[in-house]
Amino acid sequence: MLRGAFIVIEGLDRSGKSTQAAMLVSRLEGANVPVKLQKFPDRTTPIGKMIDAYLRSESDLDDHTIHLLFSANRWELAAQLEETLKAGITVLCDRYAFSGIAFSASKGLPYEWCRAPDRSLPAPDLTIFLDIAPEKAMERGGYGDERYEKEEMQRKVRELFRRMEEEITKDTHGVVGAWTTIDASQDKEAVAQDIWQVVEPLTDGCSNVIRRLWQQ
Ligand code: TYD
Ligand code: MG
Repeated sequence: MLRGAFIVIEGLDRSGKSTQAAMLVSRLEGANVPVKLQKFPDRTTPIGKMIDAYLRSESDLDDHTIHLLFSANRWELAAQLEETLKAGITVLCDRYAFSGIAFSASKGLPYEWCRAPDRSLPAPDLTIFLDIAPEKAMERGGYGDERYEKEEMQRKVRELFRRMEEEITKDTHGVVGAWTTIDASQDKEAVAQDIWQVVEPLTDGCSNVIRRLWQQ
């Protein structure tokens, strides 16, 4: 039996990730592809609750500590994620390790240090980066009042995502799976169409073993 595909959607805050993830889930279900949506951070676990309090500025944590908590939040759900894939169910993640690196490194933590704790997590088959200029993202009803929803921060985060894209294209860091960048400033139907083009080939399932992030 083929396993499900592991697809990640990444992007800045207000880039339309959650909207597109929901649209993609409907489209996959409509095509009779079993799918599970997983959001990171998953704020429901004990670790997720600590992350939630930090993001809403109800608690203060050292930058390294919060970085490791975001990673731990992925690790605590990794086994379940793999089981789901092996059961033939496609997993769609709204954010993953790439957000972890982009947001922490944009605060000044060393890039390689940020990448380390997520090494060996299940590697996505495809990462879809919804690219939008921070000022455009802001126009979409503006940011909320969570910690990172500030234009200057988002600008740095976008640069980090671009650096990752470049490195992934050059294959500097071993396994990451395919990466595709989509213009997220288009209207949502056009974005959904672009996403479907890259996702449809994966809907028959995957035959290869689940690989590990950043292993050579
Ligand atoms: P987000 O997906 O924006 O949550 P919501 O849809 O509820 O607004 O995630 C919250 C913030 O967490 C976002 O600004 C990005 C940040 N983040 C990290 O800093 N590191 C990570 O590893 C992840 C997954 C998210
Ligand atoms: Mg957000």
